[in-house]
Amino acid sequence: MPALVLLGAQWGDEGKGKATDLLGGSVDYVVRYQGGNNAGHTVVVGDQKYALHLLPSGILSPGCTPVIGNGVVVDPAVLLSELSGLNERGVDTSKLLLSGNAHLITPYHTTVDKVTERFLGKRKIGTTGRGIGPTYADKINRVGIRVQDLYDESILTQKVEAALDFKNQILAKLYNRRAIDAAQIVDELLGYAEQIKPFVADTTLILNNAIDDGKVVLFEGGQGTLLDVDHGTYPFVTSSNPTAGGACTGTGVGPTKINRVIGILKAYTTRVGAGPFPTELFDKDGEALRTIGGERGVTTGRDRRCGWFDAVIARYATRVNGLTDFFLTKLDVLTGWEQIPVCVAYEIDGKRVEELPYSQTDFHHAKPVYEMLPGWSEDISKAKTFSDLPKNAQAYVKALEEMSGAPISAIGVGPGRDETIEINSFLS
Ligand code: GDP
Ligand code: IMO
Ligand code: MG
Repeated sequence: MPALVLLGAQWGDEGKGKATDLLGGSVDYVVRYQGGNNAGHTVVVGDQKYALHLLPSGILSPGCTPVIGNGVVVDPAVLLSELSGLNERGVDTSKLLLSGNAHLITPYHTTVDKVTERFLGKRKIGTTGRGIGPTYADKINRVGIRVQDLYDESILTQKVEAALDFKNQILAKLYNRRAIDAAQIVDELLGYAEQIKPFVADTTLILNNAIDDGKVVLFEGGQGTLLDVDHGTYPFVTSSNPTAGGACTGTGVGPTKINRVIGILKAYTTRVGAGPFPTELFDKDGEALRTIGGERGVTTGRDRRCGWFDAVIARYATRVNGLTDFFLTKLDVLTGWEQIPVCVAYEIDGKRVEELPYSQTDFHHAKPVYEMLPGWSEDISKAKTFSDLPKNAQAYVKALEEMSGAPISAIGVGPGRDETIEINSFLS
């Protein structure tokens, strides 16, 4: 099983960090392929809790080589501070590899992110304010700065000046902000260059060779399917492709080399930031999911919007990612409800719809059609096998599997590494 992708099947925060970390001990490489430090992945190892933003979750597994692929946008200040934070806690980060083709988030990208959101007012996206969108915009506009530019001062200066010529006009004339000094940005970036240099590598070559040699490579998505810029709830999305195809473009590994695609799926639904969310709850059930599930953003500290499980979304994730398996997380959070509603379809303008509508207007009007499943009250956090689960919890999982279109191969019953029920091995 040389190459597998692990990605979010909903709107992010499904528990990807925990799932990646769980497999980290058995894989040779863990690779981030898109996004940046907008991600927030919590990993609990024993009594230690780690919050990772930019670094792949495999960094916590000795023996595993963490890789930041070309599709990731990298804030060098965040990279260095995340590394030193882990070093202080005794984690060896020396094996990290960073693509020379990855784009850099600079202070002007974070500034543009924040002022754009302010300018949009109540139409804002609710971004994480980390400069993600403006950095990807510059990449597509061909005025981005790449990691490799740090090692050619003259090219770096030309590129920063070219990028700022235009941006400063906008900042000054549209947003009434002070222009940003190119020389200062160049100095700041050059200040990171030497510290980052040991990690910079031709990651595409290394990863393809590793797969050819039979090594196990895990591609770890940030965000989730419905935050994908092409397949998500545009414009309320992030600016990259968390879906499975992103693993190829974001690393330079072809689709024929990927064997398995695992969707991380929360047993209910959450979302941070603005945008449509058919099963969102505004009542005490939503509050209970938020409290019991600890649904507060790892990156921005914002409360997550919470709602019941949405099988239409899960089916959609199976389709657009070609999922082979699901990892169902946070089943333990649903303990204690007498009945659990599950959205099986939508009603849109009086009609029942089974699949996610391609039209955003329709999606904004979608009303969930619920089926009630019986709940359970037993503590399931110690369950080790599927048969350890109460009958109603088993039936809940089986019902979700049937509606979602791919087998549920693992179930999370708590945040810890060992609080997982493995049904089918991901690595066989
Ligand atoms: P990610 O962004 O997909 O990596 O997910 P986050 O780390 O942002 O959010 C998931 C949260 O759920 C984290 O606090 C995890 O520690 C926690 N978590 C993951 N799996 C489980 C589970 O099965 N049960 C419970 N109770 N918590 C879990
Ligand atoms: P992980 O990897 C949940 C959301 C933001 C906002 C939108 C665009 O932890 O699952 P951006 O800063 O990316 O331009 O913001 O995307 N968002 C996330 N929501 N989990 C994430 O990452 C997210 N990363 C971005 O809240 O709505
Ligand atoms: Mg998260």
